[in-house]
Amino acid sequence: MENKNVEREKLASRVGFLLISAGCAIGLGNVWRFPFITGKYGGAAFVLVYLAFLLLLGLPIMVMEFSIGRAGRLNIAGAMRALEPANSKWHIFGYLGIIGNVILVMFYTTVAGWSFAYFYKELTGVFNGLSPEEIGTAFEIFLGSTGELIIWMALVVILGFFICSLGLQEGVERVSKLMMSGMFIMLLILVFKAITLPGASTGLSFYLKPDFSNFSWESVYAAMGQAFFTLSLGIGGMTIFGSYIGKERSLTGESLNVIALDTLTAFLAGLVIFPAAFAFGVNVGSGPGLIFVTLPNIFNQMLGGQFWGILFFMFLTFAAMTTIIGIFENIMAFTIDEWGWERKRAALINGIGIFILSLPCVLGFGPWSSFALLGEGTVVLDLEDFILSYNLLPIGALVFVLFCTRNFGWGWKNFIEEADAGKGIKFPKWLKPYVSYVLPLIILVVFIKGWMDIF
Ligand code: ALA
Repeated sequence: MENKNVEREKLASRVGFLLISAGCAIGLGNVWRFPFITGKYGGAAFVLVYLAFLLLLGLPIMVMEFSIGRAGRLNIAGAMRALEPANSKWHIFGYLGIIGNVILVMFYTTVAGWSFAYFYKELTGVFNGLSPEEIGTAFEIFLGSTGELIIWMALVVILGFFICSLGLQEGVERVSKLMMSGMFIMLLILVFKAITLPGASTGLSFYLKPDFSNFSWESVYAAMGQAFFTLSLGIGGMTIFGSYIGKERSLTGESLNVIALDTLTAFLAGLVIFPAAFAFGVNVGSGPGLIFVTLPNIFNQMLGGQFWGILFFMFLTFAAMTTIIGIFENIMAFTIDEWGWERKRAALINGIGIFILSLPCVLGFGPWSSFALLGEGTVVLDLEDFILSYNLLPIGALVFVLFCTRNFGWGWKNFIEEADAGKGIKFPKWLKPYVSYVLPLIILVVFIKGWMDIF
């Protein structure tokens, strides 16, 4: 194992590292999930709690994931094995992390495929002149067209693994940097357009003026779940990027940068969706369809709407693809580190595997729609999201915290030494009691409450 570590590939630049990590974090969670749960849980009050959890939970755990990766210089499973005390079994949770990455892409490839499809549909003017009902029906018909969904999902899988097959610097880093820059430019243009729409101010105040009258424990719980999901934390997703960098910069500072970029994107996506929705009288509490059903409607009513529709879904596709590339790289690196596969071969075999594993989610909207393990009206996507967001993310996060704070794990001293190596902001030592005892307790409460809410 050590020999491989010596030759480990490295990212070309610090900007590349920050944009890849931010790209893996920024995705459908920010643009699709964040606005609709903010709409559901009461706007600005929810946003405040979400921001608090990003700092309280997200920041320490991200520093831990980067540190494990940089010290272990391998994928999450290999890194935990390299760092754990002799004869301990922490690395089994590393394998669980890799399984978590796989489950994430099992449904993420489908929704990324929808973004691709909607970009294409806007490009070819499919929605032009349709009534709001017809646009709603179009989404339902689309979800039922299994063949079409498979093609878009396959496109996402092929493109993602093709980019990974080009190499860490030539593929993953170069493409992520390009897509992230393009994504930010598109987002800024969209924000400018949305907040200058007549009637945008009601949406702005819903989004930015906290009103705690609608607020409940459920909102707190949703805010915590969103904080994990949006940062890809709990499955070691960030570990791999830590394994590709040197010790020039301290990891608390780098994590703050990544979280700031992720939060900025979610915040700006909200600035696009809420003013636009209120300007055109669309219900922001309408759930997961908020983007795919209501936005094409909004674009239809806007002057030059097709252009804005193309821009929006291109932006969404870029955001989703950078996450796909980041998570694929985690899976690729596992097979390269652990089984010695060549990068191109890894891309091919993993590509076929992930394509097959993504089929249940697609079929769940068509021939397998009666498979509703989580209750009437739920689909395979809900089940996979449940396994990931309600189980693997909190369990994984809890394990990483224990691993980094307990002597029978990697231990606090080793963790702090790695996290603080290099220039930049250091991890606050006085936080040790909080990180060691309060943080695990918060995660445990989220986990148990999650189960109680579902069943
Ligand atoms: N962190 C990824 C997202 O927000 C999973 O979409």
